Formats: sequence, structure tokens, C-alpha cells
Amino acid sequence: KSIDAIFKGLGKLYFGTCADAGSLGKADNEAVIKADFGQVTPENSGKWDTTEASQGKFNFAGLDTLVNWAQTNKKLVRGHTTVWYSQLPSWVSAISSKDTLTTVIQTHVTTEIGRYAGKILQWDVVNEMFDESGGLRQSVFAKVLGEDFVRIAFEAAKKADPAAKLFINDYNTVEKGSTYAKTTGMIKYVKKWIAAGVPIDGIGAQAHLMAGEAKNVPASLAALCAAAPQCALTEVDIVNASPGDYVTTVKACVDIPNCVGVTVWGVRDPDSWRASNNPLLFNSAYATKPAYAALVETL
Ligand code: XIL
Repeated sequence: KSIDAIFKGLGKLYFGTCADAGSLGKADNEAVIKADFGQVTPENSGKWDTTEASQGKFNFAGLDTLVNWAQTNKKLVRGHTTVWYSQLPSWVSAISSKDTLTTVIQTHVTTEIGRYAGKILQWDVVNEMFDESGGLRQSVFAKVLGEDFVRIAFEAAKKADPAAKLFINDYNTVEKGSTYAKTTGMIKYVKKWIAAGVPIDGIGAQAHLMAGEAKNVPASLAALCAAAPQCALTEVDIVNASPGDYVTTVKACVDIPNCVGVTVWGVRDPDSWRASNNPLLFNSAYATKPAYAALVETL
């Protein structure tokens, strides 16, 4: 049984991985994704520097490939990501007028999310907007619009695809414990925004873990999940992929009723963005690693 099948048996929606046209085009890799995963997240093709590198000139070639592949192969998709300070073209970072940036965010979000309306389960509408002390990262979005950019982005996203679940996603929110300032800061802001009517459906915790950090995941994830209707682990990879760390991390989601799924950030170690850390569930020969077997046994 695949972990995805086990997850569905446990009432979760998916066990997923990131992918893109290149990785789907490698037959061995594609076969593993077809057999073992129920959801794909575009690793890079949905980001602003790819989708709107210059203003108003949209490029969805890569994202179309991923979404079409998912539809053909009956896989779910997590959309990733519309508003992020990184992989952001300099024409956006250079904007200093509130009205201009508002329109630019609305056009970008509406065009990208609207294009795939009805085909995407969840969108990371806003990514990595908090700093380590739990305040707003001083991106162009926060500098020009303050926290209002969150409302602007989520309202545009909800209009563009009313069926998609809209997520706010970040890192270092489950790694350091439930009282870590970034975790409590995210919780405080998200609760406030939801209470004010901002259409946030879920909190995503990336979970790019160092060895030994997994013990902090259950309590931190529970705290995050209590702050929104849904939550998910969205980009899991763990330095050295110890079976115990993987089980603790993945089981944290399994044990929380509104945690809807887990996504690992890649299939095979050498293709990981942290390749030197061997953080994934498959080795260079596409064989499962001990952490995979431990998950199948324990879940
Ligand atoms: C990473 C990709 O895996 C790399 O290929 C790319 O060079 C940089 O971005 N947080 C995120 C992801 O939200 O989009 C990032 O993905 C990893 C950190």
C-alpha cells in the first residue's frame, strides 16, 4: 500500500510531493509519483518570476503541464504560490505606490488562480510573510501596503476560484516549538484576519526540518491547526531522513483532525533543493529509504 492510500484510509485528502515539467518528464520519477503520491505541488512553475516575469506578460507553460498531468493521472494539485517576496521579479519589488501595487497583486492573483479555477485543491496565496520574531517580513508588499496586502491577495483569490481552499504558508513554524515567536505571531495574525473576514481557509507549515527538530512538530502543528479551518504540512524534508523523525512529523498531521494532508518536497534525494542533506523518502535509484517503510508500518 502506498502512503497516499494509507492517508486516504485515515480520512486525509492526500500524501503529495512537489514536481514540475522536468521531473514529470523523467519516466522513473513519473512512475514513482503515479504509484506513491496523490497530489502534486509545482516546485517552481507557479512562482511570480516564472508566471509574470515582466508586467502583464504571463507564462503558464510549465504550470499548465503540471496541472494537465495531474488531471490526466487523477492527482490533486496544491497551487504554489502567488504572493511571495522571493523568486519575485524586480519590476514588482520596485513598486512604491499603494494603488499600483494593489492592482498588480490583484491582476497577478486573479490571472494565475483564475486560469485553473476548479482544478486546484488548495492555493498558497501568500508565502513566507512572517519574520522570525512573528512580525511582518519587510517585503515590498508589507512596506508599501502593510498587512492589508493579505486581505487584497486573499479576496482576489477567493473571487478567482471560490472552490479552492486558500492557504497562508510559512517555514520555521513547527520546527522550534509551539511558543516560538514566529509560530505564535502567525497564529495571532491569522486569527485576527479570519475574524475580520479575510477568506483564509488554511495554514500551511512547510516543515523543512533539521535532524532532531521533529519532536517539536506535534505541539506546534496542533497550535497552528487550531487557528484556521484547515492546515497541512506542505514541504516536508528532514536532514538525513531519520525514520523516527519522519514518523513523528507525518503522524503529527495524521493525529490532528483538520490537518488535511502532507506534501514532501521532492521524490529522490539527488533532486532535492537540499540534496546534500539526503532529506527525502527515495534514494538516487528511486528505491524507498527506511523512513518510507517506517511510515507504512506505523501509520
Ligand atoms: C525551492 C525549490 O525547491 C528550488 O528548486 C528553488 O530553487 C528555490 O525554491 N520554500 C518554498 C519553496 O516555499 O517554494 C522553495 O522551493 C523552498 C522553500
